[in-house]
Amino acid sequence: MLSKQTEKALQNRSAIREIFEYGMKRGQEIGFENVFDFSLGNPATPAPKKFDETIIKLEQTMDPLKLHGYTDNAGIMEVRDAVAKNLNKRFGTDFEAKSIVMTVGAGGAINTVMKTILDPDDEVIVFAPYFSEYDNYVANFYGKLVKIAPNFPTFQPNLDELKKAINKKTKAVLINTPNNPSGIVYSEESIKGIAEVLREKQKELGQEIYLISDEPYRELLFDGAKHYFVSKYYENTFICYSFSKSLSLPGERIGYIAIPKTMADWEKVALAIKTSTRILGFVNAPALMQMAVKECIDEQSDLEYYAKNRQILLDGLTKCGFTCAKPEGAFYLFLKSPIADDVEFCEHAKKYDLMLVNGSSFGCPGYVRLAYCVATDKIERSMEKFALLAKEYGLQ
Ligand SMILES: Cc1ncc(COP(=O)(O)O)c(C=O)c1O
Repeated sequence: MLSKQTEKALQNRSAIREIFEYGMKRGQEIGFENVFDFSLGNPATPAPKKFDETIIKLEQTMDPLKLHGYTDNAGIMEVRDAVAKNLNKRFGTDFEAKSIVMTVGAGGAINTVMKTILDPDDEVIVFAPYFSEYDNYVANFYGKLVKIAPNFPTFQPNLDELKKAINKKTKAVLINTPNNPSGIVYSEESIKGIAEVLREKQKELGQEIYLISDEPYRELLFDGAKHYFVSKYYENTFICYSFSKSLSLPGERIGYIAIPKTMADWEKVALAIKTSTRILGFVNAPALMQMAVKECIDEQSDLEYYAKNRQILLDGLTKCGFTCAKPEGAFYLFLKSPIADDVEFCEHAKKYDLMLVNGSSFGCPGYVRLAYCVATDKIERSMEKFALLAKEYGLQ
């Protein structure tokens, strides 16, 4: 018999997966070139050439027992050192190898942090719209996800609501910038504002409140947008990073947690994070991938590709009469549904074989998400479909 929690998870099937599976079915019926699938956040550009070359070199030159063996639970020391140095060079931080724990992607990183800090019924606050897996990541440890309503139309975090939401049960605030699903990048003012509220509340309540920064899209920035490195603004910050998007490696499951020295008891926390990685059964991040990302730490997937897609999509949809939140990062565009019911709008878009994900599944009814990590010509060809859709809603 399945657990009650698993039964619940089965019922809450991911809206993204559902629309993706529908798109696959349609593809078999009408040809995949005729399906305009904007549902999945799977990178559309290959990993940098150096990544493949590195894998081959490692396979040819390293002792296989070492290459494929268990590593320290926190990861290989030289890899952690390379990550720390890379962060310090780029963001002016003060990490050392001991501050870094290599993880199984950002999903593994966030689950590891939750395992480390949550007792049952502890609360984690998120700002909608938010990545829908957070519900599961917090429920996995019997915590409660507290959702702050979207701040229209900027989608910057609502600090007044944050103040009201914090109480004795609050263990953490979980943020994600550049944001999935909105493509919004949090401003420096927002990050400073969150830090001020948390500092004030920590003092008032006499307890630590962690800020967890989920940043797999940190490098995917457009139009001069900037990422403000969160641990420089707030002491008790966990940085959860992934190479899934920046190096186009989502299937390889590699990322890290960075624990700043400003965090209360940081060495004990780092040891606890390492222990959580082990006892969750991850044991260690994939060894070969650790070594490969060390060699590719300064590499990046093709940002220009996403920048071009973003511009074509934004211009095209605006011309059709749709209203969009201006995407400054990640590879998502958030479009205002022309009717209040975003689920119905997504259903209707299927008539033109446009696969969109409803905003309700990200805690933001009234909007829909388009993942533009697709072939550029698909975006170009989809415009006539969007024009027909817009016409039906009187937008043209
Ligand atoms: C906001 C956000 N966080 C975490 C993840 C999980 O990333 P990973 O593949 O590194 O586990 C994703 C994946 O799409 C994401 O969009």
